[in-house]
Amino acid sequence: MTSIQASQGSPYARILSIASAVPSRVVDNAEMCTYIDSSDEWIQQRTGIVERRWVGEGEDAESLSLDCGGRAIERAGLTPEDIDAVIVSTISQFVQTPGLAPIVAAKLGTAGAAAFDISAACAGFSYGLAQAEALVRSGAAHHVLVIGVETLSKVTDLEDRSTAFLFADGAGAAVVGPSDTNGIGPVVWGSDGNQADAIFMTQSLQEVAATGTPSWLHMHGQPVFRWATTAIADAARRALAAAGLTPDQLDVFAPHQANNRITDAMLRHLKLPDTVKVARTVKYYGNNSAASIPMALDAMLQSGEASSGDTALIIGFGAGLVYAGQVIRLP
Ligand SMILES: CC(C)(COP(=O)(O)OP(=O)(O)OC[C@H]1O[C@@H](n2cnc3c(N)ncnc32)[C@H](O)[C@@H]1OP(=O)(O)O)[C@@H](O)C(=O)NCCC(=O)NCCS
Repeated sequence: MTSIQASQGSPYARILSIASAVPSRVVDNAEMCTYIDSSDEWIQQRTGIVERRWVGEGEDAESLSLDCGGRAIERAGLTPEDIDAVIVSTISQFVQTPGLAPIVAAKLGTAGAAAFDISAACAGFSYGLAQAEALVRSGAAHHVLVIGVETLSKVTDLEDRSTAFLFADGAGAAVVGPSDTNGIGPVVWGSDGNQADAIFMTQSLQEVAATGTPSWLHMHGQPVFRWATTAIADAARRALAAAGLTPDQLDVFAPHQANNRITDAMLRHLKLPDTVKVARTVKYYGNNSAASIPMALDAMLQSGEASSGDTALIIGFGAGLVYAGQVIRLP
């Protein structure tokens, strides 16, 4: 029988670089309260958000992706031609086709890299990272660019006081490549489609065309809060265990930046020591879904709060409902 050759990958993969793109428009709680009946005090107490970023003039999901994607490639010491797969995690590509990834791959100057979008909402970065790790280890790709990007301001209903203060824009990217030592732990992931109606778009594209009214991102906050502080806190614990780490061996905890109260509940569940540095970028960036984890990691690395070589536990969770988490070594 003719044998079919198998691809040969690297024994391990690691993150070679991280970069982020912070949108220019600052929307503080005072401005938010001109749209909804709320207060700075209520928003801060319930979420920890002081201000959020929205895209400004000339900015969109594509420009943010090109910005952070290009810098991530540079920081990895690579050129765009070295990237052979581009994964864009987003729920902000507002056409069903084409995907954003092929456009980004072309405009970055890759040599026709494989490119696809994934729709895993706030878990999108960890989903993308799990795929990148598998591609590098299988040999299907050598260097993978993973981008999490959102412009949720475009689908935020400014008349909905239960969600308008949460959602935000931004982008973060990581380059994943081969390594002699392991830099990405086993992914712990899953879904609960029985809760698909917890976070959803209010209309399909066909309904938008038929009704002439916009489709908004809507969320039932309390079930999501309960799920995040129970099932997802436990998934985070399992991701740490799957990587073979004990809490005292962890340097950084960077959960999806949904809400500081969710982060606090996870910290209690995980019993992490005070020495662990905890991402709190929701304070200035708001909840920007797939972008939140790479943006938080980049902010911590750039400020010196986190360092190259640190171990970090990341976990994303959101619409689907879907979740994914893993331990990584920071570049
Ligand atoms: C969204 C969230 C902050 C709302 O907080 P909550 O405590 O659940 O708020 P509720 O909807 O129960 O409302 C509580 C009270 O605040 C009021 N309220 C709601 N929105 C308000 C606002 N924007 N400003 C002021 N008051 C508000 C409600 O009217 C209610 O008042 P009442 O007690 O007098 O009836 C919270 O549910 C949450 O964090 N959920 C998780 C969502 C999340 O982060 N998802 C992202 C995952 S991807």
